[in-house]
Amino acid sequence: MSSFSQNPYVLVLFLVLTVWISRVMSRGLITSERHEKWMAQYGKVYKDAAEKEKRFQVFKNNVQFIESFNAAGDKPFNLSINQFADLHDEEFKALLNNVQKKASRVETATETSFRYENVTKIPSTMDWRKRGAVTPIKDQGYTCGSCWAFATVATVESLHQITTGELVSLSEQELVDCVRGDSEGCRGGYVENAFEFIANKGGITSEAYYPYKGKDRSCKVKKETHGVARIIGYESVPSNSEKALLKAVANQPVSVYIDAGAIAFKFYSSGIFEARNCGTHLDHAVAVVGYGKLRDGTKYWLVKNSWSTAWGEKGYMRIKRDIRAKKGLCGIASNASYPIA
Ligand SMILES: *[C@@H]1O[C@H](CO)[C@@H](O)[C@H](O)[C@H]1NC(C)=O
Ligand SMILES: *[C@@H]1O[C@H](CO)[C@@H](O)[C@H](O)[C@H]1NC(C)=O
Ligand SMILES: *[C@@H]1O[C@H](CO)[C@@H](O)[C@H](O)[C@H]1NC(C)=O
Repeated sequence: MSSFSQNPYVLVLFLVLTVWISRVMSRGLITSERHEKWMAQYGKVYKDAAEKEKRFQVFKNNVQFIESFNAAGDKPFNLSINQFADLHDEEFKALLNNVQKKASRVETATETSFRYENVTKIPSTMDWRKRGAVTPIKDQGYTCGSCWAFATVATVESLHQITTGELVSLSEQELVDCVRGDSEGCRGGYVENAFEFIANKGGITSEAYYPYKGKDRSCKVKKETHGVARIIGYESVPSNSEKALLKAVANQPVSVYIDAGAIAFKFYSSGIFEARNCGTHLDHAVAVVGYGKLRDGTKYWLVKNSWSTAWGEKGYMRIKRDIRAKKGLCGIASNASYPIA
């Protein structure tokens, strides 16, 4: 009786099977090695093996979603695995600000009416980055719901550059620590309250002087370093009009609220974002720093996010513009505002 290893046919069959199985594994299955590689890439550390196993399961589901989305042929945008790959949808949403659920925001004294109402000169495309008015992409981190501070600072930085010619990175942490309202800091806040704060204080300090920490701390700003960039107030873009938003963005970057809760938003990596299931439950704040149009006529807004360069197109999103719904895609035209100098 010949043993297993002595039968050449069995051996060949065994080898072929082994190669086939390992191929299938590396292609179809999401291994814990892949999770570990990803953990190293994003500096993720878990408190114990149980936590790691739990995170691995979430990672696996997210990667499966991303890969099947991308495999599904011709689409206007792609997804990719990023720093959010081990977060449940619910955990991710906790990072966002539940802007709508809060009590109505403080009525502000420095709000004036829409100055771009009668603007007629509107360039067909605009990219404030090319005009040197946009600082590099920043990262709010996944422990602090401070998007509102980033969306505020981005448009104040741009206005400062447009009016003075100087591009200076400004301090989100000053806003996180010092703007006090309904619910501010890492728990979320309002762009409008932040503009109000900057206007009343006579300016905002620089990132270099007051660097970002990603957690709530006590407010500490010395007077002499306060007014690196000054604004006198802010204006709101008339709600629910992409036309009005266009007039504003043609003149300066604008802060907007958006619904970022869709899973495709979280893992967006390139192309023109146009997820049909994007809602209008405003839960995130970003800056619109331009707009454009593809050769096929598709129009888009250029959005600066605060989720590092690992997300989107090196930190930016191009999102479909001029849709039928008045609020714009993901509610982008619902509540836009910008600082004035
Ligand atoms: C726009 O034009 C109308 C009509 O002429 C005028 O009443 C309004 O004040 C103008 N708005 C601004 C912001 O200049
Ligand atoms: C999506 O990814 C594929 C493969 O990398 C690429 O060829 C395609 O251009 C991407 N599509 C968009 C809209 O970015
Ligand atoms: C958005 O705008 C609407 C209409 O102007 C207003 O009622 C609502 O309070 C605003 N929401 C926020 C979060 O500012």
